[in-house]
Amino acid sequence: MIQVKNLSFSYTKQPFISDMSFSVSSGEIFGFLGPSGAGKSTLQKVLIGMLTTYQGSAIVNGVECRERTKNFYENIGVDFEFSTMYEKLTAKENLRFFSSLYEKKSRPIEQLLEKAGLEHDADKRVSDYSKGMKARLNFIKALLHDPLLLCLDEPTSGLDPTNSRVMKDMILEEKAKGKTILLTTHNMQDAAELCDRVAFIVGGKICALDSPHKLIMSKGATTVTYTWMENEEHSASCPLDCLSADEQLKRLIAENRLQSIHSSEPTLNDIFMDLTGRTLL
Ligand SMILES: Nc1ncnc2c1ncn2[C@@H]1O[C@H](COP(=O)(O)OP(=O)(O)O)[C@@H](O)[C@H]1O
Ligand SMILES: [Mg+2]
Repeated sequence: MIQVKNLSFSYTKQPFISDMSFSVSSGEIFGFLGPSGAGKSTLQKVLIGMLTTYQGSAIVNGVECRERTKNFYENIGVDFEFSTMYEKLTAKENLRFFSSLYEKKSRPIEQLLEKAGLEHDADKRVSDYSKGMKARLNFIKALLHDPLLLCLDEPTSGLDPTNSRVMKDMILEEKAKGKTILLTTHNMQDAAELCDRVAFIVGGKICALDSPHKLIMSKGATTVTYTWMENEEHSASCPLDCLSADEQLKRLIAENRLQSIHSSEPTLNDIFMDLTGRTLL
């Protein structure tokens, strides 16, 4: 669905995105993960044909992005980072208007509103919507023309846990339909839960690209920490894949003297910090 080769882009004389190469297969959820200002939104804007003065190649659904025509957008749905609705219109009026911009027949608007839990607020002006409602409305706007590729810029950013869950379920539902999804986020839990593969982006460069699972495994085995009493409390740690060689642990198990035992997997954020020396925030 997407092939990017030696892509570079700059807003000023300084390179902003430099020499990126990657590809995204159909049906994949591909995440751009990185701190604020890393270039995630800029990269998405190149891939949706908004920024065309780039070097190298960015081919989306068979079209070189700088050569896109109106037709390019029949198969791309974009959920921008900020609401793009007309505040004075109702949700339904907005959706009707935006669906009229496509040649393709719209997905049924009532059904989309229901999916987003907005069926009872469909005739409210968007200016009266809460942040979570706006986020859900923006998302279903991207689905109106049933595009093959969805580009979602920070879809869960700033949402409460309930709204965030609804949003993630809607994203997974589109994946189940075979859509390709590009997702930018600085939320590592969301990335780990949703993405088939993630690219870590720092300073306009990709510094790692793999499945969240493989990235996490690259740090080495999960550690097990256990505690026991012997006059006072003691604790010790051992890699999960070496437990059978830990004589002390075996003895404590045999004597039923363990007080606690925990395993701790590294998180995507740990890996990000290891690779980049930075946190995601
Ligand atoms: N039109 C522009 N002109 C110059 N610089 C810009 C422009 N738009 C964005 N930038 C630069 O890009 C940075 C944000 O990049 P962005 O791709 O939005 O990062 P991210 O989405 O990873 O947070 C800003 O700090 C700013 O310096
Ligand atoms: Mg951004």
